[in-house]
Amino acid sequence: MAKHAGKLWLLLFLSPGLCFTEYSLEAEEAILCSSYTCKLSTQEFTSETCIYYDSSGNGTYYVTNCTNVAYPYCPESAGKNSTCAIKPDPTNVAKWPGEKCVSNDDCSNYATKGCVEGICRGSSIGESCTSQNNCDPGYHCSNSTCVLQLEIGEKGCNEDGDCVNSAGCDIATNAKPGTGVCIEYLSVGEYHRVQSCDSTDYTNMLCASNLCATQCYRSYCLPRLPSLNQPPVACTSNSNCSSVIDPQYEMPLYSQCTCGFNPEGKAYCGLFPGDTLYGKYLDKLTDYLESSALLYCNTERRFNPVCMKDWWGAKNMAIYSYYYTIVFDYPDIQNNQDCVAEIFNAKYVSISQQYEYYLDNFGNVLTLLSGVVFASMIN
Ligand SMILES: *[C@@H]1O[C@H](CO)[C@@H](O)[C@H](O)[C@H]1NC(C)=O
Ligand SMILES: *[C@@H]1O[C@H](CO)[C@@H](O)[C@H](O)[C@H]1NC(C)=O
Ligand SMILES: *[C@@H]1O[C@H](CO)[C@@H](O)[C@H](O)[C@H]1NC(C)=O
Ligand SMILES: *[C@@H]1O[C@H](CO)[C@@H](O)[C@H](O)[C@H]1NC(C)=O
Ligand SMILES: *[C@@H]1O[C@H](CO)[C@@H](O)[C@H](O)[C@H]1NC(C)=O
Repeated sequence: MAKHAGKLWLLLFLSPGLCFTEYSLEAEEAILCSSYTCKLSTQEFTSETCIYYDSSGNGTYYVTNCTNVAYPYCPESAGKNSTCAIKPDPTNVAKWPGEKCVSNDDCSNYATKGCVEGICRGSSIGESCTSQNNCDPGYHCSNSTCVLQLEIGEKGCNEDGDCVNSAGCDIATNAKPGTGVCIEYLSVGEYHRVQSCDSTDYTNMLCASNLCATQCYRSYCLPRLPSLNQPPVACTSNSNCSSVIDPQYEMPLYSQCTCGFNPEGKAYCGLFPGDTLYGKYLDKLTDYLESSALLYCNTERRFNPVCMKDWWGAKNMAIYSYYYTIVFDYPDIQNNQDCVAEIFNAKYVSISQQYEYYLDNFGNVLTLLSGVVFASMIN
């Protein structure tokens, strides 16, 4: 161990006398974050400046909204002032086989048959494909031909896209191609083996908890461990971001400490699957996996918001997106001032408004939302 001095060992699973798996990070390196705050009343911005970046200290972004209706949009860029601009055209979403359409223009090149009876169509069983993207729902591209996706329990996959949409491919990163087994998402119990585990965020969607760890080059699913401290947890390095101790391995995991968009320049720890909000995300994900909606998506589009919304509906999608964003952008959305959220977390602001709208069961909508947001939700 002496040669590792100066490093902090994360997830050091000791099997006495055998082996251990190392994850390390430089312990003392404190993360430095810029601050994000509304423009002070004492500040004068030159015309059309919406973000003034002051580089002194750790950096501060002073934000104000764009008042000239011709230039309503504030493009953010790191370490610079920003000037109000024309709103960019919304990019046209070209749809994959299986997704809803009105005309051929709505469908991407993957949907070689265009829009057929309101659905973008690609290659069906036995027809040719150049990638997974070409095949209609239920099929995947093997040897340039669309064939049935592999069922749960079936062997022969390389990647999730080879399996039915409710299952992923359990395969080690260095395994021989085509030797994986299709396993249902969120189904593998605690301390059972999986063939891989993401080494930065300890996730594997095959695990019931979405959480895993690697010991002696073998990966295992873990229970839904919560954060040690009640979130939001402010941090200066990953070492502040501990989960509770796993009872079997007698070690905690550590989530990432990430800068946010708050006035104090604080960083926050990522959530763990045992945290309440992460649990709500997993519950909603389970609903989706158990719905028939995902059967209507192309194999590569099983978790794409466009396809999910088409078949699972806007309400389900609003709830799912809300929890998804909270879980995966957690440090970003802590302690934002409104003027800052509108520019740096615009997507989350819109997702929250949609969530509140549906939670509110279509009541009070006109008092809750501006006409613009309302219109953007309907389509
Ligand atoms: C940034 O904006 C401020 C306020 O408008 C202005 O005083 C400053 O000169 C700008 N800096 C640069 C580099 O443009
Ligand atoms: C920069 O950030 C560090 C860590 O948060 C903090 O200790 C320090 O005071 C900040 N420096 C300034 C000039 O704000
Ligand atoms: C792929 O197709 C070629 C030509 O049709 C065939 O010879 C080959 O055996 C196929 N490979 C697999 C793995 O099915
Ligand atoms: C993070 O951990 C360091 C080192 O253990 C400690 O000094 C610091 O106070 C912690 N930061 C927070 C915000 O808890
Ligand atoms: C500017 O932002 C504030 C707070 O975010 C908001 O209340 C106000 O309506 C905005 N003004 C315009 C013109 O958008």
